[in-house]
Amino acid sequence: MSDNTMKLTSAEGHSVELNLRKGTVGPEVVDISSLYREMGVFTYDPGFVSTASCQSAITYIDGGKGELWYRGYPIEQLAERASYLEVAYLLLYGDLPHAPQLAEFQRIIRYHTMINETLKNFFNGFHYDAHPMAVMVGVVGSLSAFYHDSLDIHDPRHREISAHRMIAKMPTIAAASYKHNVGEPFIYPRNDLDYCANFLNMMFATPCEEYTQDPVAVKAVNLLFILHADHEQNASTSTVRLAGSSQANPFACIASGIASLWGPAHGGANEAVLDMLQEIGDVSNIDKYIARAKDKQDPFRLMGFGHRVYKNHDPRATIIRKICHEVLNNMADNDSPLFELALRLEEMALQDEYFIERKLYPNVDFYSGIIYRALGIPNSMFTVMFAIARTVGWVAHWMEMMDDPQQRIGRPRQVYTGADRRDYIPLEHR
Ligand code: SDX
Repeated sequence: MSDNTMKLTSAEGHSVELNLRKGTVGPEVVDISSLYREMGVFTYDPGFVSTASCQSAITYIDGGKGELWYRGYPIEQLAERASYLEVAYLLLYGDLPHAPQLAEFQRIIRYHTMINETLKNFFNGFHYDAHPMAVMVGVVGSLSAFYHDSLDIHDPRHREISAHRMIAKMPTIAAASYKHNVGEPFIYPRNDLDYCANFLNMMFATPCEEYTQDPVAVKAVNLLFILHADHEQNASTSTVRLAGSSQANPFACIASGIASLWGPAHGGANEAVLDMLQEIGDVSNIDKYIARAKDKQDPFRLMGFGHRVYKNHDPRATIIRKICHEVLNNMADNDSPLFELALRLEEMALQDEYFIERKLYPNVDFYSGIIYRALGIPNSMFTVMFAIARTVGWVAHWMEMMDDPQQRIGRPRQVYTGADRRDYIPLEHR
């Protein structure tokens, strides 16, 4: 048996040698693609705790060390020094852009930020109090009705144009969802503003007065978008890959990612954290809520805590906690009490054996909502903010999958636990 195989032997003595494969870094993988053919058995892994669904060169996470790299660059360095579009270029194309490449990429994105005017009718079809994520799923899914010129998914140029359109239009669609919600007229994108400032302007400007850009707010949005841009094979990215594996069009695939992200176990957690902090209300109530989070009879979980991969601090949460002070100190109507409550909740939870034993730490969603609120963004828009940022991750993985010559439709199997074969019983005999 060579040193890069693993031998599997059944109770009946049948055995198979499975190839071990090693990536650049991280755990080895056992290639089980021949297992069913050779041994007649499936593997069983609900939630894919031990399953690598694909190979990818985009993002690497070391959950034990709390490390996150985009194309090999540590998130801490990118957060400190890069712009969101610079990171978007890196995730899409694999390397940091030099100045002319970045300028050209910024120009391309800038000239795709408008959405088709007839899409406004679509927004008006939603009741004013529709959740913005419901609007996003619908509007993004409808984009394939507009771009017949770039829907050949086997044409790399069509795939690239669709990727650019998605990255460019998400802030416009997000801001329009918000404006529809608050009953204000949509604000058009402006070509004299950069990506993050343009988004804030579309959110908060009105036809009656200019929106004055706050550099601290722009810097905070840029940082939060970088931190949320990609995260390996998380639920929503895996959803986009599975949808794309059937050769569905890219807009439909991204709409499926938005739908998956909305869940409170995933990107919907940032909104759920603020709802939880507001429900806890005061430090004196923290013990009661920590007890509820530990009670198996109580469905309540500490939102923003725990992670499938990080069994150490989520490096993104550490970075966000740091900038909370800067943003809150800069905002007149700041939520310092809410931030203080979150800090105390983290401190008390991390002293509790239940959380220590299960390696439950604050994740990216625990502090992000506090900053969004300080910027004047309502709770219902928090997951929308996550979706804007994660769009580049979703399209990067979709493009990587579509470029993979081994790409085939994803079709998992199951363990069948239903009724054995039985004959139909006529109604009169039931
Ligand atoms: C994101 O995958 C990604 O990369 C996601 C993400 C990204 O960037 O794409 O990082 C973004 O989705 C962050 C996670 C946001 N979700 C939340 O904050 C919701 C609260 N967290 C949990 O629902 C949970 O921790 C998950 C969903 C994040 C992880 O679920 P797992 O890996 O399936 O873990 P589990 O549910 O099996 O929990 C293990 C144990 C269980 O207890 P025991 O059965 O061992 O006794 O830990 C407990 C759980 O009950 N537990 C919690 C808890 N999270 C896990 N108990 C209380 N509060 C919590 N938050």
